Amino acid sequence: MAAISKALVLGGKRGMLGAALAKALQAKGWEVTALDGSDIDYFSSNLSDVLAEAVDRLAPNCVFNAAGYTDVEKAEQEPEEAAALNRSLPAALGRALRERPARLVHYSTDFVFDGRKKTPYTIDDLPNPISVYGRTKYEGEQAILSLGLARFCIIRTAWLYGFGKKNFVSKILDICREKKNIAVVYDQIGSPTYAADLAKHSVELVELGGNGLFHIVNSGQANWSELASEAVNYLQMECQITPVTAQEFASKVQRPAYSVLDCTSFTQSTSVTPRPWPQALREYLMLEFPDGF
Ligand SMILES: NC(=O)c1ccc[n+]([C@@H]2O[C@H](COP(=O)([O-])OP(=O)(O)OC[C@H]3O[C@@H](n4cnc5c(N)ncnc54)[C@H](OP(=O)(O)O)[C@@H]3O)[C@@H](O)[C@H]2O)c1
Repeated sequence: MAAISKALVLGGKRGMLGAALAKALQAKGWEVTALDGSDIDYFSSNLSDVLAEAVDRLAPNCVFNAAGYTDVEKAEQEPEEAAALNRSLPAALGRALRERPARLVHYSTDFVFDGRKKTPYTIDDLPNPISVYGRTKYEGEQAILSLGLARFCIIRTAWLYGFGKKNFVSKILDICREKKNIAVVYDQIGSPTYAADLAKHSVELVELGGNGLFHIVNSGQANWSELASEAVNYLQMECQITPVTAQEFASKVQRPAYSVLDCTSFTQSTSVTPRPWPQALREYLMLEFPDGF
């Protein structure tokens, strides 16, 4: 009988991706322990020791860090909290795992890029973040890379939606229930990604021993307005999506105008190509709203 693989998932109780990871791992026979901020004080001054103690006690083969400060707007007002979660936590986790056999899987974002490119970003493109969120996430990547770990994956992903947490798609649908017309930005283009697909592909990558930096997103690209329209049309809601520019929308934070991610490094390592985003979106909507909205 094959040995059971054990995973520790930070953010695996209430985090959107963390919960999807716990489910995907269990579906492949992994034993999963999910911990969050109520189990581990992410702001502790000896965080590395706290994490090392948890790793020694639970003896996982792999630690997935799906915890992070993900509120892009609020991060501009709370840069220290964002840095604690997005930079200091992965750094401490990396230090804790340096002398231990467990693999580290950490998640980062398309927002490490400035969005000036016009073709999909590869892992060889140089980040140049334009927001506090993007900067702190990039610093988290750098902190892990500087440790020279033997077994690690940094997975950049983008525009996530899924179960358990409010996300762009679910927020749009909530608004459409109340309003007949909403304005949605069309001049930002990215890679909408279903958290369940990302979780499944992460497990595939880990089981094949992938090491290094990867991009994992659903295939294709969309602007926010197209993503909103696809969801509203699928659920046959009577709500008009009016495309507007980011400037008209007057957001307090700068987001990349273009941040489509190229998944070549992931596909080369696994022979897997993520499915197109509209197909993944339809599955999410079908499962989340089986009786319609
Ligand atoms: N969402 C996206 O569109 C997106 C895009 C690209 C990359 N990513 C990356 O993917 C990863 C997972 O994102 P997600 O969307 O699954 O995030 P999420 O649902 O917001 O979950 C983040 C996790 O971090 C915890 N957390 C956040 N702030 C905290 C704080 N101040 N103190 C203690 N715990 C805190 C949350 O705990 P609670 O549930 O208890 O709050 C939760 O467990 C992150 O690294 C993120 O940067 C996300």
